[in-house]
Amino acid sequence: MSSKKITPSHDHDHDKVHKPSKEFSAKARIPSMAAYKKLYKQSIEKPEKFWAGEAKELTWRKKWQSVLEWKAPFAKWFLGGKLNVCENCVDRHAEGPRRNKAAIIWEGEPGDKRVLTYGQLKREVCRFANVLEKKGVKSGDRVLVYMPMIPEAAIAMLACARIGAVHNVVFGGFAAEAIVDRLEDSGATTVITADGGWRRGKVVALKPVVDEALAKYKHVQRVIVVNRCGNEVKMEAKRDAWWHDEVAAVPAKHKAKAFDSEHPLFVLYTSGSTGKPKGILHTSGGYLTGTYATCKYVFDMRDEDVFWCTADVGWITGHSYIVYGPLANGVTQVMYEGAPNHPDFGRFWKMIEEYGVSIFYTAPTAIRAFIKAGDHFPAASDLSSLRLLGSVGEPINPEAWNWYHKHIGGGKCPIVDTWWQTETGAILITPLPGATPLKAGTATLPFFGIDAAILDDAGKECKPDQDGRLVIRKPWPSMLRTIYGDKERYAKTYWSDYPGIYTAGDGARRDKDGNFWIIGRLDDVLNVSGHRLGTAEIESALVSHPAVAEAAVIGRPDDLKGQAVAAFVMLKGNFTESEDLRAELRNHVGKVIGAIAKPDDLYFAPGLPKTRSGKIMRRLLKELVTTGTISGNVTTLEDFSVIENLQRQISK
Ligand code: WTA
Repeated sequence: MSSKKITPSHDHDHDKVHKPSKEFSAKARIPSMAAYKKLYKQSIEKPEKFWAGEAKELTWRKKWQSVLEWKAPFAKWFLGGKLNVCENCVDRHAEGPRRNKAAIIWEGEPGDKRVLTYGQLKREVCRFANVLEKKGVKSGDRVLVYMPMIPEAAIAMLACARIGAVHNVVFGGFAAEAIVDRLEDSGATTVITADGGWRRGKVVALKPVVDEALAKYKHVQRVIVVNRCGNEVKMEAKRDAWWHDEVAAVPAKHKAKAFDSEHPLFVLYTSGSTGKPKGILHTSGGYLTGTYATCKYVFDMRDEDVFWCTADVGWITGHSYIVYGPLANGVTQVMYEGAPNHPDFGRFWKMIEEYGVSIFYTAPTAIRAFIKAGDHFPAASDLSSLRLLGSVGEPINPEAWNWYHKHIGGGKCPIVDTWWQTETGAILITPLPGATPLKAGTATLPFFGIDAAILDDAGKECKPDQDGRLVIRKPWPSMLRTIYGDKERYAKTYWSDYPGIYTAGDGARRDKDGNFWIIGRLDDVLNVSGHRLGTAEIESALVSHPAVAEAAVIGRPDDLKGQAVAAFVMLKGNFTESEDLRAELRNHVGKVIGAIAKPDDLYFAPGLPKTRSGKIMRRLLKELVTTGTISGNVTTLEDFSVIENLQRQISK
């Protein structure tokens, strides 16, 4: 069990309770704690009733027969129901009074702009659905999407949903080998990509990375390429086609079929404690219900809102809170292609002013970078359109919370600190902005229908302020259904600590008011700038280099990134330590996984601390890089000189 503590702060500001303002509460869907408590109690006593009430607000072609079939750990929601997810996100708005309302206001990094109304989005999605069908993509086929943050990324996802194909979005920062792994695991035969995307003033080439992957994985039959940057790319005549040529040749109308509520919607890979990423499978009706309902209550989304989630579509936040949740609610949203600091750290704030953003959702790591850049950047823009702020991806430290509250929210916007995971599909622990008293650093209370608790090793519920494991005791509609192709791993990873109960893998505690304080991962998963990385994944990337005999990777605390990657590498006998080799190994990880996984620190270790049974004692390495010394119990250590040696390395 983790012994990490969120350091109690003595700064008065940090302990302050922020109650929602009367003005905010008066207009909110859930206007008071009493209202939250009442509905929460009902939703926990009768979760199926609560979720059915939310699902009813979506468009179903055929109503379900049963709300939930629960044969732990396998859940089926809205069984017998039929719907089309894309129709819910696009057509139902495009066919009503929202037809000329902006669905996506997009800005490219160089400053180019595009607006897609719901009507236009529908036509684009229909065209691309026709392209996919014409090219032979069928319901159930897996489609890998490797795209920059351009509207076509959302259009591609929605078009897949429309025809029942299963998208697998791969973050544009991942390397060719990561694409190969995902293609192999999902068995995808179609790839949608772009020539490149803009990032920090430069073109990041994507199609060449796909080509590199497809040289290894031979089963892809078709690649569709968006012309975004005009960088030179090779097109293979039989396999590759330009998006613009294809959509020009098909009609803008497409009849959407209805699919079963449990029809797979997407697979998204995430890191776990082994070297192999897990394909998290989400299905249709339940996932849409979860993302729809959380947007409605957590962001209190209104027709007049302009919502901006700064995530990338390559992560779950981009799936749930750029594509499916906001569009199911018919809201207008902002989408941005590039880096937050291009041309400078004022970019986001200028965009908020320009588009009148009212709800802004970002990550603590970005907030910490903004603090470092300076208050003058947000001060130069008029941010008065904002009414609500959100945070996701990692615990938000009180300094970041207070800065966000004051400098971005002008002291008047509630901050919803939302806890959830790729696996949970939608937000599970969160304040409701018109009801919940906020405290910097806590995600506060469970969402409706979510039976969250903290258990000790024996499965007993922890007392207030006692650390334990965060669990969910009842199924919820947007939960993952399985790990793609691996039911056993699914059951073992999430449902074996306590029978019939979902273990999130996070350590947490509740305070006396019942607020949940998330401490961090209990498994070997790092959270680097809000991105999940498995230590085992980075270790196996290092070991794949010919010079490396063994590697151990740990996370060390980092002011900006939350956690930074520290790697200890044992070289093979015929290799010698050098700065060049250090750089080469870091780049090698970048090549195998992607730049986000490059070790920040890389130490050459003549030996790694091991137990007598040969297990690497990562706990000691962690203590060593964090404190420079070892104070804990080392009696199980096989060879103490290894530690002395490492100590010398680190103090260098
Ligand atoms: C962490 C991102 C504290 C947590 C949506 C979780 C958080 C992992 C929060 C999931 C939060 C996410 N407070 N920790 N508000 N939100 N986490 O799958 O450790 O990329 O298990 O999903 O991020 O990361 P994932």
